[in-house]
Amino acid sequence: MTVPFATADVARTASVNGRSLALGSAAPHDSLLDWLRSQGLTGAKEGCAEGECGACAVLVARPRADGAEGSQWVALNACLAPAHAFAGQEIVTTEGLGTPTDLHPVQAAMAADGGSQCGYCTPGFVCSMAAEYYRPGRGATPAEAAPDAQAGEHDEHALSGNLCRCTGYRPILEAMAAVGSPADADPFVARGAQPPPTAIAVDVQAAGQRFVRPASLDEALALLSEHPDAVPVAGATDLGVQVNLAFSRPPLLVALDRLAELRTLQVGDTELVLGAGLTLTEIEQRTAGRIPLLDLLWPQFASRLIRNAATLGGNLGTASPIGDSAPALLALDAVLVLASSHGTREVALTDYFTGYRRTVRRPDELIAAVRIPVPAPGVAAFHKIAKRRLDDISGVAVAFRLDLVDGVVTGAGIGLGGVAATPIRARATEAALVGRPWNERTAAEAGAVLATEGTPMSDQRASAAYRAAVLATALPRLHHESTEGRS
Ligand SMILES: Cc1cc2nc3c(=O)[nH]c(=O)nc-3n(C[C@H](O)[C@H](O)[C@H](O)COP(=O)(O)OP(=O)(O)OC[C@H]3O[C@@H](n4cnc5c(N)ncnc54)[C@H](O)[C@@H]3O)c2cc1C
Ligand code: FES
Ligand code: FES
Repeated sequence: MTVPFATADVARTASVNGRSLALGSAAPHDSLLDWLRSQGLTGAKEGCAEGECGACAVLVARPRADGAEGSQWVALNACLAPAHAFAGQEIVTTEGLGTPTDLHPVQAAMAADGGSQCGYCTPGFVCSMAAEYYRPGRGATPAEAAPDAQAGEHDEHALSGNLCRCTGYRPILEAMAAVGSPADADPFVARGAQPPPTAIAVDVQAAGQRFVRPASLDEALALLSEHPDAVPVAGATDLGVQVNLAFSRPPLLVALDRLAELRTLQVGDTELVLGAGLTLTEIEQRTAGRIPLLDLLWPQFASRLIRNAATLGGNLGTASPIGDSAPALLALDAVLVLASSHGTREVALTDYFTGYRRTVRRPDELIAAVRIPVPAPGVAAFHKIAKRRLDDISGVAVAFRLDLVDGVVTGAGIGLGGVAATPIRARATEAALVGRPWNERTAAEAGAVLATEGTPMSDQRASAAYRAAVLATALPRLHHESTEGRS
């Protein structure tokens, strides 16, 4: 069977700084960054090619993250995103924000505050700053840092994906704080009132490799069914690293990130159903205040640049033992909806992982959605131990959900990452908690059980002994935090 694509093999263009540029020169795996630079737009830089430094950040017009009408300028890592994923899309680079004689307000603020020295990082910072400057709902003055990074008038994570070797950050943060708000007549603000560009179907082939953006979920599933070697790609924040650093070249990439069927969100009183193709920033904003454990997870997940592209489907699709959503979703009793051209099936997340980076998902299946029961009131925490506070993968992650009635633990969900070949649920510890009063003694005794869960090993992120020590102290820490009013 051949999948019909009304627009297959047609030369594609992207709008960059208001100019229509042909994507034809880009190979199926080429990054947006390499393509932009090949077009002479060398403002965006390659620092690391693995999403860590933000020198490559650019702005793209996307649906508003809060789900409202209109569009939003979102910054993301151009080094990871495949160029052809931007056919029909609108991109703005630092060159499109301002010129040396007519600086954009964020560029002017950086110059005035001494936020740029060698300048290598500056175009990426400027794009992240511009995304924050234009973010709907942002106020004119910095608010106190809020636990929910987007709840304050300023997103304290807006620059979390950008590194600078020279300035020590203070002048950059001062420039961000000083930049104020855009005028209503600003063309970038005016653009926000219009809908985002629609995704168009793409089928590009070169040198035995192929990139396809299907027009629908059914087309995506048909491709996976026809081509067992097809690899889905959503935000490319994991796959892009493999392409850049491990020279991975899947013969067929099937782009999922704009498929409407994977971008649905249902918020009910008893359940959230999150489309696998929503970005983490979208989930963070649109579910804020619904499930405390998720509110605590997102600010610790990578950087704003990564969360603006990364999806939940991609995080679970990696089946990584150190992926951060899995411990939280295990603790929350989440269920995955898997779709194939034969229909859908539901799999409890506890039954999803079968071994190191192995799952029950068949190659012809996609994660379509994640169903999460809304927990009873109680205590929630996400303890993430990583070498860098923001924008780093976990060495150990412990997710807690305790249901409490009159101070007694009536239900417990504990998910662990980084202590076994897969994310696991700490069942023995949960059993040691349920039915007991939530006090220091229970935390200590159940904490001793938690210390025995998993099979921690030593690697570059943490030693086995350190991982075991994190487990051993996690419940006493949680008790202390919960009784101190912190979590
Ligand atoms: C700098 C940096 C920091 C990071 N920090 C963190 C972190 O703090 N915590 C963390 O957990 N991860 C982190 N990551 C890893 C990555 O960002 C996440 O795993 C992210 O959620 C992947 O989502 P994606 O949409 O970009 O996936 P992609 O890269 O597009 O895909 C990843 C894998 O999932 C598959 N896939 C994608 N969508 C689906 C689907 N719907 N169904 C089935 N399979 C699918 C793909 O085939 C691929 O194998 C980080 C990555 C970088 C580069
Ligand atoms: S080049 Fe470092 S994040 Fe893209
Ligand atoms: S100014 Fe030199 S890296 Fe930032």
